[in-house]
Amino acid sequence: MRFLFAILFSISLFLSCGREKPADIEARVVEARALVREFGGTLKPILVSHFKQDGPVAAIEVCSKSAPEIAQNISNKSGWDVKRVSHKPRNGQSGRADEWELGVLQRFIDARKAGADVDTLEHYEVLSMEDGSRTFRYMKPQKTLKLCTACHGTSIDPAVSAKLLERYPNDVARGFKEGDVRGAFSLKMRLN
Ligand code: HEC
Repeated sequence: MRFLFAILFSISLFLSCGREKPADIEARVVEARALVREFGGTLKPILVSHFKQDGPVAAIEVCSKSAPEIAQNISNKSGWDVKRVSHKPRNGQSGRADEWELGVLQRFIDARKAGADVDTLEHYEVLSMEDGSRTFRYMKPQKTLKLCTACHGTSIDPAVSAKLLERYPNDVARGFKEGDVRGAFSLKMRLN
C-alpha cells in the first residue's frame, strides 16, 4: 500500500512538473495580447483608408486579401497560430470557429448580453489532449463598430451585398449591430 502511494505521488509530481507555472502563463498572455494588437493595428488602418478612398465595394477586395496575409505573416514570425474566427463566418474555411472557439465566443456573447463592453473581454486556457500534448489558447473578441456594419450589418448596400455574395456565396457574417461580438482573434501555441 505504501509502495502504491509512493508511485502515485511520483506520478502526480511528474504531471505537475509538466504543467506551466503561473508566471509562464502570464508571459504567454502578454505575448498573445501584443500579437492581437499588432493584427488589429495593421488591418484596421488599411481597411479604413481603402474604405474612405475607394468605397466599401473596393474595400472588400482589400479585406479578402490583406486579412489572411497579415494573419500568416504574424504567425510565421511569432511561431503562434494566429487567425480570426466567427460563430457566423463569412469565409467558410479560415473564418469558421472550432468547437472550443464556439464555446468561448458564446461566453463573450453572454457577457455582452449581461452588459459587458466587448473590448474588455478575453479568455485563455491550457488545453490538454489525450496524447499528452498541451496547447495554450487565447481569444479576444472583436467588437462590431459602425464601420463594420457596412459589410456585416443589418442593411448592407445592395452593391456591397452582391459583391460579397459573389465571393462568399455562403456568407452568414451579416445582421450584426454596433457593439455586438462580430468574431474574435484566436491564437494557439503548443507547449510541449
Ligand atoms: C468592406 C467590407 C468589410 C468591412 C467594412 C469589414 N469587413 Fe470583416 N470581413 C469582410 C470580408 C470580405 C471578410 C472575409 C475575409 C476572408 O476571406 O478572410 C471579412 C471577415 C471578417 C472576420 C473573419 C471571420 C469571418 O467572418 O470570416 C472578422 C472577425 C471580421 N471580418 C470582423 C470585422 C470587423 C470587426 C470589422 C469592423 C472593424 C469589419 N470586419 C469590417 C468584409 C468587411
